[in-house]
Amino acid sequence: MKILVTGGAGFIGSHTVVELMAEGHEVAVVDSLVNSSALVIPRLEAITGKAVPFYKADIRDKESMEKIFEAERPDAVIHFAGLKAVGESVRLPLEYYENNIGGTIKLLEVMRKAGCKNIIFSSSATVYGDPAIIPITEECPKGTCTNPYGWTKSMLEQILSDIQFADPEWNVVLLRYFNPIGAHESGTIGENPSGIPNNLMPYITQVAVGRRDVLHIFGNDYDTPDGTGVRDYIHVVDLARGHVAALKKMEPGSGLSIYNLGTGIGYSVLDIVHSFEEATGVKVPYVIDERRPGDVAVCYSSADKAHRELGWKAEYDITRMCRDSWRWQSMNPNGYGDEDMG
Ligand code: NAD
Ligand code: UD1
Repeated sequence: MKILVTGGAGFIGSHTVVELMAEGHEVAVVDSLVNSSALVIPRLEAITGKAVPFYKADIRDKESMEKIFEAERPDAVIHFAGLKAVGESVRLPLEYYENNIGGTIKLLEVMRKAGCKNIIFSSSATVYGDPAIIPITEECPKGTCTNPYGWTKSMLEQILSDIQFADPEWNVVLLRYFNPIGAHESGTIGENPSGIPNNLMPYITQVAVGRRDVLHIFGNDYDTPDGTGVRDYIHVVDLARGHVAALKKMEPGSGLSIYNLGTGIGYSVLDIVHSFEEATGVKVPYVIDERRPGDVAVCYSSADKAHRELGWKAEYDITRMCRDSWRWQSMNPNGYGDEDMG
């Protein structure tokens, strides 16, 4: 199949391009580079040994997107493009709603006009809010999000469901990611946060590489075995393969499907610090700070539905996740280099 990957220069998108091409799919990437580097594309070409068609375009720019659809005629879209910094979304809600929701609506209009009605959407475990059931199954009701970023995911799920309901020619897969970490084994592509990392693993690797002094652990008084927050960390390559599996199951009439993509295993912040130290031999000094507003105590998936219906399950363990995160960070201490962003 020919797949248009929006946000394909980003962390998860770039890894998904590799896995799609490994399965024989043709790929084209659209990315505005608002949160990624053009250097990703030659690195993808080095990994895959093939050309990766790349369009520097914003999904909100309908004219450019129409031209891309005419040139590429994709069978399906995997839609990663979006802004994802939780704290920033609290400061800039209008920008987040406009980019994530406005951008997706424009993309859907262009898709409909082009007659391409197959889409896989990057959603998040954040739509469960403070989860009513642990482990979280897809039947768990959606909850109250704690920030505008989370609401963009929750609202886009609703918009995509409504569009599919109104026109059954649409095939929509909502993938709810848990906590992606790790990197491609080559160490040449990985997560490249701008500024102070929001997420745990990039913060740990930046402490380990000497860019930051100490990890701040946000609270050790949660109702968890060691008091620190518990999450479901998943290797980004496993996550990427989840998209390939979802694509394989997409066929005319498959309708709306929702899958958690996680491992089903919960690790605390301290578990991750210790696993990282054991896997890499590098010490991670930490201090205990206040809880971060909006954090929940425990969030991990039941990954059974994706296993049952897609034949997919995560393969890489926490040691592998830590090693691959560290390989990427130590080979690229400054990510792709800040001067290349945008
Ligand atoms: P990322 O920032 O690395 O990738 C997103 C890409 O989209 C970037 O390359 C950015 O330049 C691009 N982009 C943003 N707005 C755009 C626009 N209007 N037009 C074109 N390109 C645009 O983030 P990621 O971690 O790879 O996440 C990919 C998707 O998965 C996002 O939608 C994110 O919200 C979602 N998600 C991520 C996580 C996570 O922990 N990383 C968890 C759940 C869901
Ligand atoms: C966060 C976002 C969520 C988003 C997800 C992926 C919040 C409230 N939630 O989820 O909306 O979908 O990232 O981008 O921001 N931690 C520390 N120190 C740090 C960083 C994190 O102790 O410097 C702890 C957190 O308190 C948490 C765990 O590590 O217990 C994981 O945090 P993080 O990587 O930010 O992911 P989530 O909070 O699950």
